[in-house]
Amino acid sequence: MVSMVNFDNQKMIFTLSNHSISYIMEVVDGYLVHRYWGKTITHYNFSNRPMLKKRTFSATPNIDQPELSPEFIPFEAPTSHMGDYRNAAVCVINPNQQDVVRFSYVGFNILNQAPELVDLPFARNSDEKVETLIIHLFDDISKIQLDLNYTIFENHAIVVRSSTLKNMNSNKIILEKLLSASIDVCYSKQNLTTFYGTHQKEYQINRGDIHHGLFKIGSSRGNSGPQYPPYLAVSEDATEFHGEVHAMTLLYSGNHEEIVERDQYNNLRLQIGLNSETFSWPLNQGESFQSPQALLAYSEEGFNGNSQVFHHFFKEHLINPNWTNKARPIVINSWEITYFDVNDTLIRELIDSASELGFETVVLDDGWFKQRNSSQTSLGDWTVDLLKFPYGIKTLVDYARKRNIGFGIWFEPEMISPNSELIKKHPNWVMRAKNYEPILGRNQYYLDLTNNDVQMFIINTLSKVITECGINYIKWDMNRHITDPFSPINDHKKPGQYFHNYMVSLYHTIDQLTKKFPDVLFENCSSGGGRLDPGMLYYFPQTWVSDNTDAFDRQQIQYNASYLFPTSSITGHVSVVPNHQTNRIIPLNVREALASSTNMGYELDIIKMDSDKKERIKEHLKTYKAERNLILNGNFYRLSSPNDSNSCSWIFVDDNQDKAIVYHIRNTYNTYDLSLTLRIPYLDVHADYLRFETNQIYSGSELANCGLAFENIKGDYQVNKIILQKIVEN
Ligand code: DGJ
Repeated sequence: MVSMVNFDNQKMIFTLSNHSISYIMEVVDGYLVHRYWGKTITHYNFSNRPMLKKRTFSATPNIDQPELSPEFIPFEAPTSHMGDYRNAAVCVINPNQQDVVRFSYVGFNILNQAPELVDLPFARNSDEKVETLIIHLFDDISKIQLDLNYTIFENHAIVVRSSTLKNMNSNKIILEKLLSASIDVCYSKQNLTTFYGTHQKEYQINRGDIHHGLFKIGSSRGNSGPQYPPYLAVSEDATEFHGEVHAMTLLYSGNHEEIVERDQYNNLRLQIGLNSETFSWPLNQGESFQSPQALLAYSEEGFNGNSQVFHHFFKEHLINPNWTNKARPIVINSWEITYFDVNDTLIRELIDSASELGFETVVLDDGWFKQRNSSQTSLGDWTVDLLKFPYGIKTLVDYARKRNIGFGIWFEPEMISPNSELIKKHPNWVMRAKNYEPILGRNQYYLDLTNNDVQMFIINTLSKVITECGINYIKWDMNRHITDPFSPINDHKKPGQYFHNYMVSLYHTIDQLTKKFPDVLFENCSSGGGRLDPGMLYYFPQTWVSDNTDAFDRQQIQYNASYLFPTSSITGHVSVVPNHQTNRIIPLNVREALASSTNMGYELDIIKMDSDKKERIKEHLKTYKAERNLILNGNFYRLSSPNDSNSCSWIFVDDNQDKAIVYHIRNTYNTYDLSLTLRIPYLDVHADYLRFETNQIYSGSELANCGLAFENIKGDYQVNKIILQKIVEN
């Protein structure tokens, strides 16, 4: 069997290769040096090894090699105070209280599996061939071991990287920074792509030139956050369709950082990992720390190609296999219908209408528990509000079940309200700094999840509701960021450990619950997509991507989130107009198109509706059910971008390219656009396709190259849905 990981001990070269990528490193004078990351190459013979030149001001550790300076070595794990003046990836306070470590290569080993991390989400093993290279570096003065882990799967253009640092010294050391990946490449006029965003405007594209100096994004909010999700990509002239894209993301949902540094010699350093400013981790003898895993995805087929790499990898190695291809229910959610004002009658009527119209699950959102009439109260008091639900929740679940409707319920388990019963009983369960009042966010505090009792409380509370009521869907919400990162039970110490401890505790809690209830669908939510990251995707197969249900704003949010996330991991609902977030009035067919391009549901009053509207919903649900498998499990490609054009379009195609659905939305009407044309690649260019709506036949090559023309209909917001079926292979 041919190995994917190889070491040439003459040349001192490590190669990770499969049929789509290679990743190459060299050991030079004990340094582990980056040589290549990109398309597969057969043999590496130093063709791109940079010619070195002696430079004034450069540190030169080897007197016989004055041109070899750490200042321009492309390191895999750069450290500080050793002559590499760029941003370090590893910082350690050694036993002498000095932040100096100097690692040298000592050896390696290879595993035939992907490492399964204990506390963190990880790339899962499957039947696919996989190999992991562990390169051992050692600081012989301070006795510290640094293991760099690289995993490659046979069929994915992904390298999974992480680091493990172990203290072998009898004295304590403090780990101040351990990034998951650091790669030095040459600057060649690449663009940088990252995301920025906020509540109701998640996943906005930030793309531009890379200037000299340091560019940094990340989060110090205790959560990955909608502000800057963990992602960066560099690309030279790439479009959605063509060109090389190198992208990185992190399997982590807490504080993180992404750094791009272009130095004076036009070297480009790309880094991703835990946020080092909020991190400090003491290690006693024998103790080690494992960083989260970074995923490095390469494609030569543009951003669509790069997204395909992530989508397939997430489906095969990240998302819980129980859920990957399982049909997700079409929900009707109570939130935008009546907000906190839910009650037994409403939910019964909702169940009746849901069953009449073809919905599959009713989700009882916020407001169902004790005195929860606004966001000011009751988080933590997870018992039913008997004034609103005098017969409890179980009777509603039974009522739904008799009508073949599933039942979901909202929780915000990580939080506690200041006026709850829970806080009176357990004042020291609140995350807070000593002597200071904790700061409120959405009128609530964080629970100190690092306390085992709190974890057990959450696990037991949710288990009880799920089991006693027969719930099969949990919407797990989280609506604020951390301000007081301290645990009362640890006497408020360990600030640099708290954020990571919190995340490990959260992962542990949701891991327990999702394993205990494998048939319950857990939906991730943080005021929408505020914690939409690959770390959460490991546990929760889908995320409510935004509280903004406006079908104009949603175009960018969904389009851009798809850079990373497959359709099945995103939920979207049809809501009323004027839209509650923007007041915009967008036609129903556009709202349907946007929601139908996700895990679809509704969030509007289906009870008080005239029969025409009901018929329309019935039809929509019927169509979506027929198309759901292709939408959720097919391949998704972006065709025209709402970021920089007046239209938003995308295509869903099955693996055999037999069937495709294209949505094309044109926003404002422009009189000068006589006609609209959309090129439709990603079909079989050797086949003919029948377009259902018009009964026309086009070849795949014609659609890809000539495109398809549409009438430019007067009025804003036009949607075209094109269904294509392969009829003949040419
Ligand atoms: C924020 C979520 O994103 C909404 O969908 C809704 O569940 C509210 N929280 C409830 O408070």
